[in-house]
Amino acid sequence: MARFNVPAIGATEITPETVFLQRRRLLQAAVALGAAGMAGCSVDNAEAETPAAAPPASALKVNGSTDMAGGENLTPEEVITTYNNFYELGLDKGDPARNASWLKTDNWQVEVGGACAKPGTVGIEDLIDYNALEERVYRLRCVEAWSMVVPWLGVPLGDILKRFEPTSNAKYVRFDTILDPDNLKGQRSSILQWPYTEGLRMDEAMHPLSFMAVGLYGKTLPAQNGAPLRLVVPWKYGYKSIKSIVRIEFVEEQPDTSWNLSAPHEYGFYSNVNPTVSHPRWSQARERRLDGSVITPKINTLMFNGYADQVASLYDGMDLTKYT
Ligand code: MTE
Repeated sequence: MARFNVPAIGATEITPETVFLQRRRLLQAAVALGAAGMAGCSVDNAEAETPAAAPPASALKVNGSTDMAGGENLTPEEVITTYNNFYELGLDKGDPARNASWLKTDNWQVEVGGACAKPGTVGIEDLIDYNALEERVYRLRCVEAWSMVVPWLGVPLGDILKRFEPTSNAKYVRFDTILDPDNLKGQRSSILQWPYTEGLRMDEAMHPLSFMAVGLYGKTLPAQNGAPLRLVVPWKYGYKSIKSIVRIEFVEEQPDTSWNLSAPHEYGFYSNVNPTVSHPRWSQARERRLDGSVITPKINTLMFNGYADQVASLYDGMDLTKYT
C-alpha cells in the first residue's frame, strides 16, 4: 500500500538489487561495525512497546540511472534500511527501522517560503514529478566514519527550488523536518533542538549534485531513511542530508542548524567531508564502507567525499579548516 499518491509500476521494472545477503549475516555485520557512536543512551520517555508495522514501500518508475560512486558495489538494501541515524525515531542504529511507524506521512505537505516570488504550501505530488525520477548512486559519508553506496531515486534539488523563484535576497536555504512529538517520541528528548533543521548556501543548494530523494532501491523511501522526501548532499557529512522535510525557506542570513546548535565546536555549518580536519573527538581520515561484509576494513576518506572535481570550486578562497 502506498503511503502517498505516486504512480506504481510492475515489479520487473524495479531497479535490481545487486547484492543480497542473509539477514543474520547483515545483523552480524552491523554489530561488528564498531563505528564511533555519537550517543549511546536511549531516548527519554520512549515507551517500551511494539510499534505497529510501517506501511511497505511501493515501486517507483525510474528514468535512467547514473553511477556517481565510481562503480563500487552498492550497500545492500537491508543495511541501508536497518542501520540509520534518525534521532526522532530513536538513538540506536536499529531504532529507526523498529520505530518506523512513528512517522506519519499521510497527506504530506511542504511549505516553501521566505525570499521567493512564489511561496506556497504544496502536496508532495505537486512538489515532485514522479514521472521524472532519476536514480543516482552516491556515496554517503557519515561523520561517525562509516559510509554507504546508495541508489537514491529523486530529482535535482535545484529544479524544485527554481519553481518558487527565489529572489536576490535568497542567500541560503533552510530545511526543517516534521515536528510531531506526540508520535515521534525521539522529539521528547533534549538531545537536539527540534525540529531537526539544516541549511545550505544557495549555490550549494543549486549545485547539480544536490538531490531531493524520494526513494531508494527503486521504491519509495522507508520511514527510517526519511520518507517521504529527504535531502542528499553527497560531498557533505550525512547529517546535512535532512530527512522528512516539511518546510523550505529562502533566507538572507546563514541559518542555524540542529547539530551546530547542539555542539558548535564539533559540527560546522559547511560540514564538507574533509579528511584533513578531524572531528574534535576522532579522526576523519578514514572510514568503513558498509558493503554487507562481516569485516569492513577502513579505507581512506576522500576530500569532498570524492566529489572534489565537481564541488571544490564552490569554496575557492575559503579556509576549509575555519569554515568546517
Ligand atoms: N534527519 C533528521 N530529521 N533527523 C536525524 O537524526 N540524521 C542525519 C541525517 N538526517 C538525521 C537526519 C545523519 S547524522 C545521517 S548520517 C543521515 O541522516 C543518515 O541517513 P540514513 O539513515 O538514510 O543513512
